[in-house]
Amino acid sequence: MRFATAAPALAVHAAWRIHGAGRLAVTALAGVSLEVWPGELVAVMGPSGSGKSTLLNLAGGLDQPTRGDVRIMGTSTVGRRPAALAQLRRRHLGLVFQELNLVGSLTALENVALPRELDGVPVRTARREAGEALEAVGLGHRADRFPARLSGGEQQRVAIARALVGGRRLVLADEPTGALDTSTGDEVLRLIRERCDTGAAALVVTHNPRHAAWADRVVFLRDGREATRSDYGAEPFGAARPADRAAPADGRGLSAPTAGGTLGAPGVEGPARGSGELPLAGLAAALEAPR
Ligand SMILES: Nc1ncnc2c1ncn2[C@@H]1O[C@H](COP(=O)(O)OP(=O)(O)O)[C@@H](O)[C@H]1O
Ligand SMILES: [Mg+2]
Repeated sequence: MRFATAAPALAVHAAWRIHGAGRLAVTALAGVSLEVWPGELVAVMGPSGSGKSTLLNLAGGLDQPTRGDVRIMGTSTVGRRPAALAQLRRRHLGLVFQELNLVGSLTALENVALPRELDGVPVRTARREAGEALEAVGLGHRADRFPARLSGGEQQRVAIARALVGGRRLVLADEPTGALDTSTGDEVLRLIRERCDTGAAALVVTHNPRHAAWADRVVFLRDGREATRSDYGAEPFGAARPADRAAPADGRGLSAPTAGGTLGAPGVEGPARGSGELPLAGLAAALEAPR
C-alpha cells in the first residue's frame, strides 16, 4: 500500500553507473529509473552481474551515478559531500548489506544501538530503542549476547533490527535472506513488509520468487537495464500474492513492471555468502562514508 505523501522515499532517475573509462569501461547500470514510495516494498531481481547491488549502492548514497539522479527523501545525492551523505543515511536509511556485518566485540544490543549513537542520540535512548528493535525481531532475550554466540539466523535478525531501529524511512536490503533457512528468511521479509505497512519504503534484492511475491512491485534487471516482463516469461506473481496486498493503484512509479515476471526466473544466482565480520572501525566507516 502506498501512503499519501508528497514525495517518494527514493527516486532514481535515468541512472547510469560506468566503472572505468575507454575500452576498459564496465557499464554496471544503464539508465535505470524507479521510485519507491512510503508504504511500498519493491523487490529487485535479476541474474548475477545484472546491476542489483550497484542499484542498491546508488540508492543508499554509497556510490554516485555517472549520469542521472538519485534522490533520498527528496534530497539528491549527486555532488553531495560525504559528510552530508552520511548524515542523510544515518537519519533515513536502514541498510542490510551482505558486507555490513555485526561487530564481534559488541553485544547484539550494542550493535543495534551503534548507528543511533553515531547519529548523536543519547546512549540511554539509543539502547532503549535498540532493545525495542530486538524485541520486534524476537531477540529480546539475546540482547546481551555477542554475535559469535548467536546462530546465523539470529545474527541476521540483529542486522535487521539495526536497519529498522529509530524508525528509518527507507530500508535497503541486498539479498537479506540469502544465507538463511526458509522460516528465518520468511521472518526477515515479514519484518520488512510490516515496516512498509506502517509507512517505511523498502528496496530489497531477492532471488526468492516467494519473497518477491510479497512486494508491491518487482523490478527485473538484466545487463544493467530494466528487463521487460517478456524476458522472463508471462506467469504473473498475482496468484502467489497475499490477498490483502493490492498493487499501487495509479502506477505513478517510473518503473514499468507491476508485479510482473515469473516464478523461478532463469539464470538467477545462488545463495549469498555467509556472514563474516567487520572491525568496529570498518562498520563505523561504512555507516559514515561512501565506499
Ligand atoms: N567497482 C567495479 N569495477 C568494475 N566493474 C564493476 C564494479 N562493481 C561492479 N562492477 C560490474 O558491474 C556489473 C554489475 O555488478 P553488480 O551490481 O554487483 O551485480 P549484481 O549485484 O546484480 O550481481 C557486473 O558486471 C560487475 O562486474
Ligand atoms: Mg549483488
